Parts: sequence; structure tokens; C-alpha cells
Amino acid sequence: MKNLPLNQYISHASQLVYGCMAIGGEWDFNPLTKDQTQHAFAAVDAALEAGITVFDHADIYRMGKAEQAFGEVLKSRPNLREEIVLQSKCGIRFEDEHGPKRYDFSKDWIVTSVENTLSRLNTEYLDLLLLHRPDPLMEEEEVAAAFDALFDSGKVKHFGVSNMSGVQMQHLNHYINQPLIANQVEMSLTNLGFVDEGIYVGNPDGQHVNFTAGTLQYAKQNNIQMQSWGPASQGKYTGAPAALTAQEEATKKLVATLAQKYGVATDAIVLAWLMRHPSNIQPIVGSANPKRIKASAEAVTVTLTREDWYALYVSAKGVELP
Ligand SMILES: NC(=O)c1ccc[n+]([C@@H]2O[C@H](COP(=O)([O-])OP(=O)(O)OC[C@H]3O[C@@H](n4cnc5c(N)ncnc54)[C@H](OP(=O)(O)O)[C@@H]3O)[C@@H](O)[C@H]2O)c1
Repeated sequence: MKNLPLNQYISHASQLVYGCMAIGGEWDFNPLTKDQTQHAFAAVDAALEAGITVFDHADIYRMGKAEQAFGEVLKSRPNLREEIVLQSKCGIRFEDEHGPKRYDFSKDWIVTSVENTLSRLNTEYLDLLLLHRPDPLMEEEEVAAAFDALFDSGKVKHFGVSNMSGVQMQHLNHYINQPLIANQVEMSLTNLGFVDEGIYVGNPDGQHVNFTAGTLQYAKQNNIQMQSWGPASQGKYTGAPAALTAQEEATKKLVATLAQKYGVATDAIVLAWLMRHPSNIQPIVGSANPKRIKASAEAVTVTLTREDWYALYVSAKGVELP
């Protein structure tokens, strides 16, 4: 078992995270139904059986119903709380009577959002709170005051961010009193910027690279856990119905060949590709299908060879290495 940066702070954190965005029914304000709650129980059970201990939420997922459904699980199994790692996010506000969709890192919003999250989850504390997306109107001192209030009251044990660059993390770390310990960004075979930014330095082909240089390096030097959202590319290479280009078909075929070679499911190969990177990435499994959750968890048994890792990168990128 690999030692993750996160394990320095939370020893029972698993290598995979279960993403709870797909539980809790539709993205609406209708009450949670019995079926939707049962669906959540099945997904959470599959994740637990597969050895996953970290559960990722956000206040906005399914308009709060993802947390509410998970709260039902915790209510029925009080012993579970201490065995798992619960993380949630705040800072995105959808359009409402007060205004348009916006980001909000004000102290009031951060604290209120966490209190609502705790109530929906039926828990006294979060192991980890992430700021969901950078707020250009962020006042650093307000974030620091919000973190202090949540930490001192025991409502949040650790803090992190999401969709931030290395410089943004460094900047925030300068003001806050608790270290950032995680950053969640999109990384996958369809979102290759995190690899491209290192490979295409000084190369004209790198002008469209969409990942801020220095992010992985800052995280590694400061023991910040990188988590990847969208790690399975919504099933693009593992069987989800999609119109694929010839290159994408070739990548899907390669994923299937490697699945046979390593004796695991294709779902595991795409995650194993991320986990082979020395940044110790923690993929967030987003499926709500128990079979797929189980298949994805086979990723922890695979270490891709350098050759297979590069073959997948080059195939997904669709161009030869410079
Ligand atoms: N921080 C952020 O800004 C941010 C943004 C987005 C997500 N997240 C987090 O990251 C987690 C994962 O993100 P994600 O959901 O985009 O990840 P993902 O694992 O790449 O995609 C999961 C989705 O793809 C479908 N899928 C996967 N394999 C499939 C296959 N072989 N055939 C058919 N469908 C397939 C799943 O459907 P089934 O349920 O049917 O399997 C599910 O809808 C979320 O749950 C959330 O916790 C964070």
C-alpha cells in the first residue's frame, strides 16, 4: 500500500476517493425519495466493500441531496463515522434570489455552508473542507478567520482547496493558520495538461496547455494531496456510449489490451494510469454503479510499466512525443 501525502494527517485515508456527486437523485429541490436513498446506500456500500474510506462531497451536489442521502447512511450506521474520512466543499453559489451564479469565500458564507453541510450529513465534523473554485474576490484574512472559527469549534479538522494552481495555494498558505493538505483538480486521459505542462516547456506545441506550471511541484514539496476529479473521463475509454474519433477508439482498444495484460477491468486501467504518476494522485471514483465502483477499485493492485504508461499518454494525446 502506497503512502499518500494525506496519510501524514489522516492515517486511514485510502488511495481512492469515492465521489458522491452522483448520489442523491436529480439536481433539483424535490425531496429525496426512498429509491434515491437506497441507490446511495448501494453505492456507498460498494465503495466501502472495495476498501475506499474517503468520501468526497460538496454543498451543491444535487442541491444538497448528495450530502443528505449520505447523512441517511451515517444515521443508520453510527459506527461508520469514525472509520471514514469525510470531505466536503463550499464556495460555489448557484443563481438564487440574491444574484447570479457566483463564488463566495466570505467568512459568513464559508461558516454557514459548513454548518448546513454538517447538518445534512448528520455529523459533528468534517475531516477535510475544500474551497471549491477560486473566488477572485477572496479576502485572504476572511478565509483565515473562517478556517480558525471552524477549526477552533472542532467542526473542521483539516483544510484544502480545489481547482487552484500552485501559486494560489502558496498565496493562501501565507495567510491561513492551518496548512492546506489537499487540492482537487481535473486530471485524466482526456485532461492531460498536468503531464503536458512538464513535457512542452519552451515548445510552440505547448501554447494551449491548460494546467498551471508548478502546481504539482508545490503540492509535492508541501505534502499537499492531489486528487483528480473526472478521472475516468466519464467512461470514454471504458464503455460509455460516446462518438469517438479514430484516435480515441485506438486508446480505448489499448485500455482493453492493458486490462487483459494486468488482469483487471478497464475501469481500473484508466485510474492506474493516474496513480502511476509520482505526484501520488488520489483518483475520485464518480460512478454510482456498484459493479463499476468495484471494478475501479482494482486500480490499487496495478502498477503500470513505464512503457505502458507512455503508450497510453501518447495514444490519448494523439501525437508523438517531442
Ligand atoms: N472539484 C471539482 O470541481 C469537481 C468537479 C466534478 C467532480 N468532482 C468530484 O469528482 C468525482 C468524480 O467526477 P466524475 O463523476 O466526473 O468522474 P468520472 O469517474 O470520470 O465519471 C463518472 C461518470 O461517468 C460514468 N461512467 C464511467 N464509466 C462508465 C462506463 N464504462 N459506462 C458508462 N458510464 C460510465 C458514470 O456513470 P455510472 O454512475 O452509471 O457508472 C458517472 O456518471 C465526483 O463524484 C465529485 O465528487 C469534483
